[in-house]
Amino acid sequence: MQRILVTGGAGFIGSNFVHYVIENTDLHVTVLDKLTYAGNRASLQGLPDDRLAFVRGDIQDALLVDELVRGTDAVIHYAAESHNDNSLAEPRPFLDTNVVGTYTLLEAVRRHGIRYHHISTDEVYGDLELDDPHRFTERTPYNPSSPYSSTKAASDLLVRAWVRSFGVRATISNCSNNYGPYQHVEKFIPRQITNIIDGVRPKLYGAGLNVRDWIHADDHSSAVLTILAKGVIGETYLIGADGERSNKDVVELVLTLMGRPADAYDHVVDRAGHDLRYAIDSTKLRTELGWLPKHGGFESGLAATIDWYRANEAWWRPQKAATEAKYVAQGH
Ligand code: NAD
Ligand code: TYD
Repeated sequence: MQRILVTGGAGFIGSNFVHYVIENTDLHVTVLDKLTYAGNRASLQGLPDDRLAFVRGDIQDALLVDELVRGTDAVIHYAAESHNDNSLAEPRPFLDTNVVGTYTLLEAVRRHGIRYHHISTDEVYGDLELDDPHRFTERTPYNPSSPYSSTKAASDLLVRAWVRSFGVRATISNCSNNYGPYQHVEKFIPRQITNIIDGVRPKLYGAGLNVRDWIHADDHSSAVLTILAKGVIGETYLIGADGERSNKDVVELVLTLMGRPADAYDHVVDRAGHDLRYAIDSTKLRTELGWLPKHGGFESGLAATIDWYRANEAWWRPQKAATEAKYVAQGH
């Protein structure tokens, strides 16, 4: 494998993956990204021109997708509408990009016999009770809650159907919540960090007891490369790093790391249909493919992420006011 096509490579996890690939492999990367509000060309700044090509375009554009897929050895599909709150306000773009966009890519890899890896989320499994001793596994039934997670679930099922019906050489990974640099300020952790920088109190939805299973974006990237190299065609792999934390704990930790009192936050109106808990059992990926996360503690990774947002205000500042205005309109 020499050339890969990365969709959504100007977004949060996609851009972290592109940086990771350039640093850790000899692969040539072509990014296909529409540059929606969530895409940022600056997230790929400084990467060498002879290793990276950037194409601005929509994954629903069948002609463009066909041309790019034809010239690559593998497609890694990150592009998506990715934010639950947006999906509650306006579901349509989620159907277009997550479902029709994935269909468009699958038809192209099918025509040209190209290896495909599908990036998905643990949110396709719905949520768990706080005291449930079980975590999500590859055998957990799909039970998505939001327009976002249901369109991701739909895209996963399309991939499975294209494997079985048409012999497409695909793998799927479902990862837990990522943190790290280049994450849009609409998401939980960057929103709170940048609020604190601005002297605004962090906003916790509801009581803040909801649990997310945090993983550093670099560990997600290393897992995806492992699956590309060693994954079994047709298989699904869950990616997680045993990082369960309640939202309240995370806000308190961010405040403490930024030198503020741990209780200096506000409770705001809860999200409709808010999933209570996500938790990943990544035994299959660890035992069958030998993957292990490298980032030690959530606390040190979070501290480094805070440093990154402090040092890169020029990257996030242009998005901040509009994002907060949108949240005010939603009561968050
Ligand atoms: P993001 O919103 O930060 O980035 C999405 C990128 O896709 C942007 O660059 C955007 O411009 C691009 N894009 C959107 N619509 C497009 C279209 N029609 N054509 C081409 N490009 C388009 O999202 P993210 O958080 O980086 O998530 C990336 C992927 O990882 C998604 O598939 C998401 O479901 C999955 N995922 C995310 C998380 C998480 O914690 N954020 C966890 C597990 C899985
Ligand atoms: P988010 O980053 O939107 O990811 P997801 O919905 O995919 O898990 O939110 C993470 C958690 O943080 C989720 O339980 C909602 C909560 N949350 C807040 O409490 N306050 C906020 O300002 C935001 C954006 C999210």
